[in-house]
Amino acid sequence: MVSYIQTEDLVKVYKLGNVEVQALRGLSIKIDQGEMVAVMGPSGSGKTTLLNIVGGLTHATAGRTWVAEREITNATPAELGVLRQRVVGHIFQTLNLIPTLTAYENVELPMLALKKTGAERKKRTTELLDTVGLALRMNHKPDELSGGEKQRVAIASALANDPPVLICDEPTGDLDTETGAKIVQFLHTVNKEMGKTVIVVTHDPAIARQTDRIFRIMDGRIISVQRPSDAEAVNAALMVQMYRDRLNETNKEIADLEILFREQRVSPENFAERWHNLTETRGFLERELHRMGF
Ligand SMILES: Nc1ncnc2c1ncn2[C@@H]1O[C@H](COP(=O)(O)OP(=O)(O)OP(=O)(O)O)[C@@H](O)[C@H]1O
Ligand SMILES: [Mg+2]
Repeated sequence: MVSYIQTEDLVKVYKLGNVEVQALRGLSIKIDQGEMVAVMGPSGSGKTTLLNIVGGLTHATAGRTWVAEREITNATPAELGVLRQRVVGHIFQTLNLIPTLTAYENVELPMLALKKTGAERKKRTTELLDTVGLALRMNHKPDELSGGEKQRVAIASALANDPPVLICDEPTGDLDTETGAKIVQFLHTVNKEMGKTVIVVTHDPAIARQTDRIFRIMDGRIISVQRPSDAEAVNAALMVQMYRDRLNETNKEIADLEILFREQRVSPENFAERWHNLTETRGFLERELHRMGF
């Protein structure tokens, strides 16, 4: 049986001219309905790519994907459009608010696509702005809002059509701790009280700890899935071992790649791209191990 949200061996290759970037290399996840999960991993590890596939913005190169128990692997552009409008609310890393529209208009926008009546739109928009505490800011444009306020408009807009799934890319990235905590509090409300399934990408361990499960992704693959309670001291030793193993593997991959390059079995562009990704992963692992006292 498939899970509510599931991916199976996802591969995503981006091609830019001669350069091939393997953003995902066999990534599988299973998320239950009503769960709130965190996705953590170093920069460039494939987090946004994963959300873009689940959110119906792009197809994987290989592998299968189910969202709200429906398979979207071979969905047509029109079917993906429906998914984006009705099934998945997406809060982008870059927020994607329309700068020339007010907070009110940004929240109302997704409803226009569904041809809701004016009265319905007004009721829902007002309600949502109220829920995120922005009733008094509804006539402000994004540039006239603080970072945390913009983030809340983006959340309200993602919830406009009442999608059962909310995906959220770094919702507290640029925010101070206190504002970030409020946003996370609100995501918990969305999960617990509105009953939505929530996936949140975050670099912040304090946020990850408040979710049901933490998926750690590295170099396009899931390297561990933990309940936050396990992620504490009990498993610190395991984490260290896992990071060390991964560090050894990464060092070996870098060495192998350098051999391939010398033997001219990989193009300079692909060598540079892959080398950059691997050294990024290595740096992350070294910093984490250092942080854990090793
Ligand atoms: N449209 C694209 N074209 C080519 N390469 C891309 C594209 N989008 C992402 N990539 C590459 O794919 C890899 C994964 O990128 P992704 O944005 O998924 O990482 P991320 O984990 O979200 O990183 P961050 O924490 O910095 O947001 C990176 O090496 C990135 O450079
Ligand atoms: Mg990203």
